[in-house]
Amino acid sequence: MAVDPRVVKRVAELRKDLAYHNHQYYVLDAPVISDEAYDSMLRELRALEARHPELVTPDSPTQRTGSSPAAAFAEVVHGAPMLSLANAFNHDELRAWYERTRKLLQGRDFAMTCELKIDGLAVSLLYRDGLYVQGATRGDGLRGEEVTNNLRTVRSIPLRMLGKPPSLIEVRGEVYLSLKAFQQINEQRAAEGHPLFANPRNCAAGSVRLLDPSVTASRPLDIFVYGVGSVEGAALPSTQWELLAWLRERGFRTNPHTRLCNAITDAKDYYHKWLEAREPLGYETDGAVIKANDLSLWDDLGVVGREPRWAIAYKWPARQAVTRLLDIGINIGRTGSLNPYAILEPVSVGGVTVKQATLHNEDDIRRKDLRIGDWVVVERAGEVIPQVVAPLTERRTGSERAFTMPALCPVCGGTVVRDPDEAMSRCINVSCRARIFQALKHFASVMDIEGLGAQWCAQLLEARLVADVADLYGVTKEQLLGMERMGDVLATKIVNNIAASKDRSMPRLLFALGIFHVGAEIAELLASHFPTMVKLTSASEEDLMQVPGIGPEIARSVASFFRDEANRKLVERLRQASVRMEADEAAAQGGLPFIGKDFCFTGAMASLLRSQAEEAVKALGGTTLSSVTRKTQFLVVGAEPGENKVAQARKFGTRQLTEDEFVTMLREAQRAVGQPR
Ligand code: IVH
Repeated sequence: MAVDPRVVKRVAELRKDLAYHNHQYYVLDAPVISDEAYDSMLRELRALEARHPELVTPDSPTQRTGSSPAAAFAEVVHGAPMLSLANAFNHDELRAWYERTRKLLQGRDFAMTCELKIDGLAVSLLYRDGLYVQGATRGDGLRGEEVTNNLRTVRSIPLRMLGKPPSLIEVRGEVYLSLKAFQQINEQRAAEGHPLFANPRNCAAGSVRLLDPSVTASRPLDIFVYGVGSVEGAALPSTQWELLAWLRERGFRTNPHTRLCNAITDAKDYYHKWLEAREPLGYETDGAVIKANDLSLWDDLGVVGREPRWAIAYKWPARQAVTRLLDIGINIGRTGSLNPYAILEPVSVGGVTVKQATLHNEDDIRRKDLRIGDWVVVERAGEVIPQVVAPLTERRTGSERAFTMPALCPVCGGTVVRDPDEAMSRCINVSCRARIFQALKHFASVMDIEGLGAQWCAQLLEARLVADVADLYGVTKEQLLGMERMGDVLATKIVNNIAASKDRSMPRLLFALGIFHVGAEIAELLASHFPTMVKLTSASEEDLMQVPGIGPEIARSVASFFRDEANRKLVERLRQASVRMEADEAAAQGGLPFIGKDFCFTGAMASLLRSQAEEAVKALGGTTLSSVTRKTQFLVVGAEPGENKVAQARKFGTRQLTEDEFVTMLREAQRAVGQPR
């Protein structure tokens, strides 16, 4: 039966609008509508496509969520080779490149583009008649792996080009992960007991090369495009500068920090500017790329091996250094995990003194064959914790010692066991002081008890004011004031924030309890199926496994946590302290719209008071914070905003909302849950 033409029309309309808003949000960073409005259009389209599967097209925004897993990647032959770049590490090498190139051009000076070199994964996107049909990794430059469906999940990659498209084009760019996204992924992996990614580049590359695109879809990958491979059926602009503008006009995301310059001294200035200014970018770069601007020169100059003569990468100074691995220390995690770390002879890495580095776990140490006393390569990338890359085995003297995990907990002397399925060793003593400290720190952070940082958690334990997280709710201001260096302002703040934390959502509480394998997302999932703590604590492993997304490992961990007498008592004491233990009705039916959303406000709003705005956010399940932290998702900017908050928001990549945008978002969310305004 033919589909009602009104439905066909509506589907086309929704797709066009969604593509427009997707471009505004992900490519131009200038959203026009709220996330909620976008989601509601997407829901409508999904529903229509579910009813009329024949209307689904490959460029439909519903196809971004990831298709079914593949068994292996197919091979792709690139239309034009994907080149790499020669490197310069200092001014002399950059100048030498310029002079060499100028000589090849019979002494002619030439203009250049200066671009940031994004540290991610090179990809090639193939479009036929404007439709995205294939995505590939670089591979060896001639052949790569076909990752079409994985790249389809990257929201800043257009599924259909804007404007008049060529009949065929390969668009080249770098897929990357922001530092914020990378840290969130690792935090979640740590909470769920998975091994961590060493840096955003590995995390991005790993995410693109996953056989299951639905997992890729959960990683907020992004792209900057910088060039094209083969093209058919269109004349391209004649300069790199115009080519980038051409790509932008066709819906691609290009880096906004590209400059055009006429002299090599300008390229040096560009390099220095970004060497100093790169930290707040929020994503990793590994240098500047200087390219001859005139594309006709590219043919004249040609390629040597895989490296074009018309471009050079001027790399930032190494963030690696060599030092001695003096010892391997052990930190106890909140689930009792024994986390080894490197104690290093202090060394300056890219201008920062490094004394310690993470070692992940025993297997990691064994894989790298690290021995105490080794000379090792240490790497620091962005805000990421320093890593030990490898030992310099040729510098061994024979006095180095292999590392073995202690058989007893170095803090409490409790038994250490190693789960054969995991890389982790754990102290099984639930009263281990180090474990309680970590549990307290995690609880304070997840429950947003601002002011109660690691230092105060340690002091509270030291002063025996608390022995577990439930004790926090009995702490008084007077007791806090008895602690060294605690002032009246901070004590008041901490006590107030502890009280306010009683009202956090049930998923938040579940995450805060530090149940092995229960990160923020799993907690949401659990609370949406077992909307009260009573229901959850009495759920059996089988009950838990009925929830889509909860596997046997998580089910076992959750059920055994709540079977444990000490944990049941802890939950009971939290209940007596009036900590919220129920998901709201709306949350149980799929979540309050602002659950997991953190807002901060700055400046005055014309249409409502700050206190009213905060109340409204909380009523929708959101959280309000008095300062912008890494976790803050939205900064609402009113009249005469505080410079500090805006600067912090910029640093962390927090989305800034105008009053109008915030109010629209609020009203839509209130309407969605039927709340009076
Ligand atoms: S142009 C020579 N421009 O750096 C033609 N590459 O070794 C290809 N990269 O993995 C490179 N940002 O993906 C170019 N603005 C930029 C870049 C860039 C990052 C990557 C590229 C490749 C590597 C080149």
